[in-house]
Amino acid sequence: MRRGTADRISLNRRESGQTKTRVHKPQKMIFFSFIILLTTLLLAACDNSGQTAAVQKQPSPSDKKQPNLTQVRSVQVAKKAVSKLNSDPKAVIPYTDPVLAYKGETLYLQNCVFCHKAHAIGKPGVAPSLTNQEFLSIAPVNFLFDTIRDGRPGTGMPPFKHLGKEKINALVAYLRDHAKKPSRIKAVLAQPVNQGDARLGMIFFKQICATCHGPGGNGYAAGGTGTAIGKTGFLSKVSDGFIRTTIKEGRSFTRMLSFQGPQALADLSSKEIDDIIAYMRTVPGEKAQSSLKLK
Ligand code: HEC
Ligand code: HEC
Repeated sequence: MRRGTADRISLNRRESGQTKTRVHKPQKMIFFSFIILLTTLLLAACDNSGQTAAVQKQPSPSDKKQPNLTQVRSVQVAKKAVSKLNSDPKAVIPYTDPVLAYKGETLYLQNCVFCHKAHAIGKPGVAPSLTNQEFLSIAPVNFLFDTIRDGRPGTGMPPFKHLGKEKINALVAYLRDHAKKPSRIKAVLAQPVNQGDARLGMIFFKQICATCHGPGGNGYAAGGTGTAIGKTGFLSKVSDGFIRTTIKEGRSFTRMLSFQGPQALADLSSKEIDDIIAYMRTVPGEKAQSSLKLK
């Protein structure tokens, strides 16, 4: 009985204990899950704050992703080009990407402005104009690119091969961005090769062209204001159409005058102009130089 009582008591205790646990278990569980929830929330908050910190931090390492000055300027340049085209129906569609041209401007100021001057207008006896409108409307991309890359041996135009393809392309874009006349590059390239007589051409060349371009077309070295049109640096990179068009039209605002038409310095016929080209194609400049060396 005692045992029974004791048993009962213990049983009761166990029962009560059990009931206690039964009562307290859910509370503890709630408490624990509350703690876990809190921890999870805290961790999540920490994680979140970490993320927000990272997000807030992002701009500093990825400032590159934020538009920098050059990019902002590039967008402005592109917008300006588009609005120019929209507002002026006669505006010439740029030969090239205005943003690339903007990059080229910096390179131009670093490498070329010393000789070719601001806006590449050139200076007689120092360097020719590169933004002349007749020139730009007929100068092919590869002529500009190759001339910049190789320079013109035996003249003041140095090679810029070290700049690499991308930068030279940007320079070409910068120059071509100055074009206000529609391109005639294809038509000029398609012109036939000269059928002239070099012996007759020599007479004209010596009488007219040598005054500025030097005997044999040696250029500034001869003391004139005309470029080295008798040297391979120029001749190896141009078509007859390019030379013919330049002689016929001249280059406005430079000392290269027009040689055809009533207002020309000398009204040469197309045949006479071809004779001159035939003579130029014998590369007199190179010969004149080598004979100079022999003396
Ligand atoms: C040290 C002076 C000098 C520098 C610097 C110079 N040039 Fe020239 N450049 C010349 C001269 C001189 C000529 C003409 C050479 C000749 O007589 O044929 C020329 C010719 C040219 C021509 C051919 C123009 C034509 O009428 O056919 C191009 C294109 C040209 N330069 C581009 C550039 C570019 C782009 C740069 C800068 C990356 C540059 N030059 C830097 C002196 C220079
Ligand atoms: C009064 C001076 C003068 C005379 C005369 C003259 N030129 Fe020129 N010519 C120039 C100048 C200056 C340039 C370069 C323009 C510049 O400085 O921007 C030039 C450029 C040229 C070019 C382009 C060369 C290049 O580098 O792209 C050709 C081609 C040319 N002349 C051919 C001739 C021929 C052919 C004659 C003779 C019929 C002739 N010129 C007579 C002054 C002259």
